[in-house]
Amino acid sequence: MKRYLITGASRGIGRAIAEKLAGPDVELLLHARDTVALAEVCKAVKHHCARVVRLIHDLAVPSGVSDLIDQVGKKPLDLLVNNAGIAIVKPFCEITSVEWEQTVGVNITAPFLLMQRFAGQMPPGSSVVNILSIAAKTAFANWSAYCMSKFALEGFSQSVRDELREHRIRVLNIYPAATNTEIWDDVTGDWPREKMISAEEVASAVAYALSRPDNVAVENITLSNAAGNL
Ligand SMILES: NC(=O)c1ccc[n+]([C@@H]2O[C@H](COP(=O)([O-])OP(=O)(O)OC[C@H]3O[C@@H](n4cnc5c(N)ncnc54)[C@H](OP(=O)(O)O)[C@@H]3O)[C@@H](O)[C@H]2O)c1
Repeated sequence: MKRYLITGASRGIGRAIAEKLAGPDVELLLHARDTVALAEVCKAVKHHCARVVRLIHDLAVPSGVSDLIDQVGKKPLDLLVNNAGIAIVKPFCEITSVEWEQTVGVNITAPFLLMQRFAGQMPPGSSVVNILSIAAKTAFANWSAYCMSKFALEGFSQSVRDELREHRIRVLNIYPAATNTEIWDDVTGDWPREKMISAEEVASAVAYALSRPDNVAVENITLSNAAGNL
């Protein structure tokens, strides 16, 4: 039996990854805040995996992360997917300190604490998947808080990757371009959905990286729109 923890699994890319990785030998630990949406995802995957567990915690606050860690328990994970994320998109002068701290909490501190707690206990051949973004490598006007968080996680996870090599634990970083999910619903401006890639394509890339033999790490995957990114 394999144990997979996926954060932000209630919709979008996290949900697509949960659906893609469900298997008869897999226990899926699915995390988010939205109890109704997460229940729907659990219902959709439960016949395709050995067991599914719902974990409802707010990663923007330290107590939410520690409660999630406690609920996952001591049994080692075979896969940690750091997917939960938020995007505050506005001129940097208008970003409030609360929005900044929430971005740091969900997009940086939660992955840090989850990797710190779980990665060291993973068996050889296990993986950590970080859902980064093309905004982890390229900065865009009005995306300063988001780019800050993804650049930070990029640097952190590259260092952790090297620390975990001796344990044969793979750190797989995924860099999607604009992906058609609800994260865009609150972003001001014209963001044509037809120019975005799908969450299922991101999930397929994750599944491909994980499907390689244990001694092969597909360390970085960038997913662009073939016709050009937004
Ligand atoms: N969509 C894109 O264009 C795109 C491109 C590159 C990278 N990404 C990255 O992909 C990841 C998933 O994004 P998405 O597009 O699928 O977004 P989404 O549809 O908005 O989903 C975000 C997920 O994160 C969870 N989440 C948000 N805030 C949370 C909090 N405070 N505590 C716990 N969970 C929280 C949400 O769950 P609840 O609301 O139920 O808590 C939801 O499951 C993010 O890291 C994002 O930065 C997205």
